[in-house]
Amino acid sequence: MEILGNSSHKIIHGDVLSSLVLVPNNSVNLIFADPPYNIGKNFNGHKDKWVSEESYLHWCYNWIDSCIQKLKSDGSFYVMTATQFMPFFDIYLRKKLHILSRIVWYYDSSGVQAKKYFGSMYEPILFCVKNKNNYVFNTNNILVEAKTGAKRKLIDYRKSTPTIYNSKKIPGNVWEFPRVRYRMDEYENHPTQKPIALLERIINASSNVGDLVLDPFAGTFTTSFVAKELNRHSIGIEMQEEYVKIGLRRLQLAKEFNGEKLKKPIRTFETEESATTKNLSLFEY
Ligand SMILES: C[S@@+](CC[C@H](N)C(=O)[O-])C[C@H]1O[C@@H](n2cnc3c(N)ncnc32)[C@H](O)[C@@H]1O
Repeated sequence: MEILGNSSHKIIHGDVLSSLVLVPNNSVNLIFADPPYNIGKNFNGHKDKWVSEESYLHWCYNWIDSCIQKLKSDGSFYVMTATQFMPFFDIYLRKKLHILSRIVWYYDSSGVQAKKYFGSMYEPILFCVKNKNNYVFNTNNILVEAKTGAKRKLIDYRKSTPTIYNSKKIPGNVWEFPRVRYRMDEYENHPTQKPIALLERIINASSNVGDLVLDPFAGTFTTSFVAKELNRHSIGIEMQEEYVKIGLRRLQLAKEFNGEKLKKPIRTFETEESATTKNLSLFEY
């Protein structure tokens, strides 16, 4: 195991359970956990498949317990898994935390088109807090357009003075964000990269500037990248070296790793020159 980065943004290259031991208890404001889903995805040669559902869940309950210890008393925990395992997470977590929202992240295209059943077009996210009377929720940072007011300009005649409906509202629990596709600027070579927009909503809502955000399954380090962009501190844990290298580059924590230059691979439709310009603009972001 090794700890990389600086005092604001740390990358722990190691297994989740032993790495979490290094994080002090009651020190984290927000945790976003996006573990392997036990559906056979290939994470750089490492198959995401346990011998049984029970053993997957047993492993999950272990890191969930550890994450809860790391959270501050007013902290928030967002956790994802496959739709078929989320009911188990829900039942387990509701005994330990307060589940405030059961979020559906919906997208308009699945990776593989189902032919003989209804294809999966969403992933569930639980939003939990330790103390339901004291937690951070920055409504003003996450407002979205309210179509009734903003587009349709409807008037509420039930009020003593008829007024137009609000043009902004707090998002409901169904969130539509496109999945990260190969041609998007934010794309990295990882099978389950989460979109920047998803993490922006979560980090804006449930943390303040200067807070500490932890991602125990960092992957492409989307959480740490957005935390940095929003002036939070971050810790990202990841066991695969290939993904740690993505994190070091994305967070501008190093230009090299073990003598290897950290460069974003050029995609089939890019030239060396256009890719360099894109990398530069991300660096200035
Ligand atoms: C679903 S992906 C996370 C994707 C991430 N949210 C993103 O936006 O890129 C899960 C990640 O957990 C990592 N992982 C799997 N088992 C792990 C373990 N025991 N300890 C640490 N990381 C692990 C995988 O290598 C993979 O990158």
